[in-house]
Amino acid sequence: MKKHNFSAGPCILPKEVMQKASEAVVELDGIGLSLIEISHRSREFVAIMEKARSLALELLGLEGKGYQALFLQGGASMQFLMAAYNLLDKKAGYVNTGTWSQKAIKEAKLFGDIVEVASSQAENFNHIPKGYHIPSDLDYLHLTSNNTIFGTQIKEFPKTDVPLVCDMSSDIFSRQLDFSKFDLIYAGAQKNMGPAGATLVVVKEDILGKVSRKIPSMLDYAVHVSKESMFNTPPVFAVYVSMLTMQWLKDLGGIAAIEEINERKASLIYSEIELNPVFSGFAAKEDRSTMNATFNITDDGLKELFDTMCKEAGISGINGHRSVGGYRASMYNALPLESVGVLVDIMSELEKKG
Ligand SMILES: Cc1ncc(COP(=O)(O)O)c(C=O)c1O
Repeated sequence: MKKHNFSAGPCILPKEVMQKASEAVVELDGIGLSLIEISHRSREFVAIMEKARSLALELLGLEGKGYQALFLQGGASMQFLMAAYNLLDKKAGYVNTGTWSQKAIKEAKLFGDIVEVASSQAENFNHIPKGYHIPSDLDYLHLTSNNTIFGTQIKEFPKTDVPLVCDMSSDIFSRQLDFSKFDLIYAGAQKNMGPAGATLVVVKEDILGKVSRKIPSMLDYAVHVSKESMFNTPPVFAVYVSMLTMQWLKDLGGIAAIEEINERKASLIYSEIELNPVFSGFAAKEDRSTMNATFNITDDGLKELFDTMCKEAGISGINGHRSVGGYRASMYNALPLESVGVLVDIMSELEKKG
């Protein structure tokens, strides 16, 4: 049966990407060897890494603007500490919009003074704080563009001269932004890019080299930049699949094209949540994420029926995170509009049965 994969991550990837990736595991582009049994220094893999790095900058509109793209390991969680290790000299600001921001704050506190410039914790992170004051003496301001667990997303980024660092793990490549406003962007691959195991880091070169501490090589962005993201053996499969997904996105028309589809998917589900009394949305309307729609069922008595109907229709991965409860429909780039249609039809059918 066809499955509709709403998993929050690792999650759905384009079918054609999966097909090509599975072929490359057996044999890469007719070379008589598998992608995962050749040297990362081979001509073939070096070309893959170069392409992945340049596609990332191209899609983000950052080519020739002083940025470098890296594919590192350790997940976005490693970036919580690497960002601070490399950029935090004295004081940094963090906007606390959920679990992942909190984890980033915890790591950064090991390296300097952390000012929590704004937080939505008192309301269980159901909205994005706005209009907060940003001290001018910060080394950087850290933001989480999309809060995967709570289903909120920053729509307008703060205007400030302080360098911006952003965790874009769950909405990278999903919407158009002026990415040149950010000095450091990082994202675990396992949402809009590829399998778990690689983390995209996009760093503006002139922000590096400003902290006084010594940085171990593996944690030093400048080392990874100087070695063209090949300081040590990179996660070859994850980089290859990420490259294929970025190529897929480019062929589709880039971020502008996918953004339009993502908005259609989001408006389909959010209008159902708004109109259907059986469901209530978790996130504040103006901050609702186009990637992760979080909602609850208003009548607990209908939960079992809803779960059964979803299961029968092949809907997978819509259980909410344990800290929010309810449901979460993740609608990453590769999720077809049709899958959201199937879910919305079940939601409206449930209303009739309820
Ligand atoms: C916004 C955000 N940041 C960070 C992480 C942690 O990523 P990783 O598991 O790659 O360390 C996640 C994981 O879901 C996430 O959604």
